[in-house]
Amino acid sequence: MSESFTIAIDGPAAAGKGTISKAVAAHYGFGHLDTGLLYRAVGARMLEGVAPIEAAQNLTPDDLARDDLRGPEVAQAASKVAVVAEVRAALVDFQRAFARRVGGAVLDGRDIGTVICPYAQVKLFVTASAEVRARRRFLELTAAGKVISLEEVLADVKARDDRDMNRAEAPLKPAEDAVLIDTSDLSIEDALAAALAVIEERRSAS
Ligand code: C5P
Repeated sequence: MSESFTIAIDGPAAAGKGTISKAVAAHYGFGHLDTGLLYRAVGARMLEGVAPIEAAQNLTPDDLARDDLRGPEVAQAASKVAVVAEVRAALVDFQRAFARRVGGAVLDGRDIGTVICPYAQVKLFVTASAEVRARRRFLELTAAGKVISLEEVLADVKARDDRDMNRAEAPLKPAEDAVLIDTSDLSIEDALAAALAVIEERRSAS
């Protein structure tokens, strides 16, 4: 195996890619970067009145460590700043450097297999129906004490899907050589097993 081994995991919100990415990284002892967090941090700064490009060019570790990045307002703001080419450009180097880290890396996001790491040894596209994803996000948010309806969450998910898939810069879509995993009817264990099966095959080939 070469020194750096990169696993790119893309897909829409709440498809399970975060859970799979964390588990895969833990399984192999690889580093994990949730790239959505970068866009969320920029979105949170925008909500505070900072211009998105300026925020992206000056992100600090503290911005990424904020504990208010998981809510639906920040998610919507993230998908709004994510359409701006200069915002995306400002975040590229950090992601690519992480992907090349010695010992292996798992990156999850929307454009990892298509734009950030087109050379990745493994590309997965993790998806699920909008209804299933909304229900999962709804359960997460209400468990965390957020008062929100399932309908609102579904509308949020669909608005974000629409913005992410239809933007000019790095739209959300599977890379041509990505393996699709639809988690709509899969347990977490089965989704992880499907991901590991693909990765094992690639690792033995590299
Ligand atoms: O993955 P997460 O839901 O945290 O991402 C928040 C938003 O950030 C997404 O809806 C998307 O607009 C943006 N994003 C992106 N490219 C990535 C990761 C996230 O455009 N690689």
